[in-house]
Amino acid sequence: MTGWTKSDWRKKPRVQMPDYPDQAALEAVEAKLSKYPPLVFAGEARRLKDALGKAGRGEAFVLQGGDCAEAFDQFSADAIRDTFKVMLQMAMVLTFGAKVPVVKIGRMAGQFAKPRSAPTESVDGVELPSYRGDIINDLDFTSESRIPNPDKMLQAYMQSAATLNLLRAFSTGGYADVNEVHRWILGYTEAEEAERFRDMANRITDTLDFIRAAGVSSDRQHALRQVDFYTSHEALLLEYEEAFCRVDSTTGQHLAGSGHMIWIGDRTRQPDGAHVEFCSGVQNPIGLKCGPTMTAEDLKVLLKKLNPKNEMGRLTLIARFGAGKVAEHLPRLIDTVRREGANVVWVCDPMHGNTIKSDSGYKTRPFDAVLQEVQEFFRVHKAEGTVPGGVHFEMTGLDVTECVGGLQEVTDEGLKDRYHTACDPRLNASQSLELAFLIAEELTSMRQEALAEAG
Ligand code: PEP
Ligand code: CO
Repeated sequence: MTGWTKSDWRKKPRVQMPDYPDQAALEAVEAKLSKYPPLVFAGEARRLKDALGKAGRGEAFVLQGGDCAEAFDQFSADAIRDTFKVMLQMAMVLTFGAKVPVVKIGRMAGQFAKPRSAPTESVDGVELPSYRGDIINDLDFTSESRIPNPDKMLQAYMQSAATLNLLRAFSTGGYADVNEVHRWILGYTEAEEAERFRDMANRITDTLDFIRAAGVSSDRQHALRQVDFYTSHEALLLEYEEAFCRVDSTTGQHLAGSGHMIWIGDRTRQPDGAHVEFCSGVQNPIGLKCGPTMTAEDLKVLLKKLNPKNEMGRLTLIARFGAGKVAEHLPRLIDTVRREGANVVWVCDPMHGNTIKSDSGYKTRPFDAVLQEVQEFFRVHKAEGTVPGGVHFEMTGLDVTECVGGLQEVTDEGLKDRYHTACDPRLNASQSLELAFLIAEELTSMRQEALAEAG
């Protein structure tokens, strides 16, 4: 793009970003970060763009998932491994069940900054600025903790680098080898979906034994021994994003070096705002959250600004309307995309439109509402003849009790048992796996109907 610079966003109206009280401290951090190595490389981002392009054409399916907000005090190798493991399990269910390659993207290694619905929060009559994620301020409810501190960007970078290092090791170092599929089963021995996964793993092992017996040599099985795993986060804190924006020497184009894919949140997608401005100039795949207030006029402008060359795979529209609202909003946005002749990947985020406050006072999401929104998403795409390209979840490999329902029947009273999220409620390992089986069924029946119609 001619004339674009990585600091042009500074001239645009910004929302949801902190006002740092100490400008000199902020500038010192920015200067430091801009010398640090980027976390991802341009070739990887281009590979993800190609993979997303396949999802947009119905030749692959996107699985994007991870924490609502990564947190400094929840950083551990086990937590990263468990979330990675559940994503591998879910991907395997989709690949084996629905016979579709899965593009795996973590909300990991950079998902720290949070937009908030209110600038302040009150507890027992005390009002303080809202928590905005560990990269900005602290969750503790004291006025000191809530002051934005630029030094926290340094720690977020270190944690992201270490997380990505482990993810790269898991992806290519043998852990993700399909031959190890039995080892991915977590400790949920009693859970019904674990039993289903074990059955499927047996069938996969049988298939692999057959392949070997048929004489397919092991070097031909290379693709089964490792996976491509990508990272993503909301590009909210633009000082941080700018510091990692680098020129890719192969193409001369800018790359957001903070993660493979970055997205624009539903609260920061103003067509003439700072976030859209920044994302328009980098070559990474971009996600755009689309909630009920997205208008046709805004979407039209955003399609042009964010994907001027109309590349398939560059722009992913992440629909997050809420159960019961998909039929009202998705068709009108599909219509706009169609009229514009725009190439987009449609992904469903069934989390952010389904957050409720439970009777016990916790923020939660009913498993049934999550599933219902996914089903509505599939139904609308079928009716419109468009492609449901993937799903986007807030989930964890840990055995938390944050979303109610599922086969495990997490109850309202049970939420307090293991409620650990720093922000929004996440699906736990067994709810995530259960959802993957249900989505595999949706994909399979859609495929069968399409074949029947073609036949
Ligand atoms: C999120 O994905 O964590 C988020 C805040 O989503 P949205 O912008 O869609 O509300
Ligand atoms: Co969230």
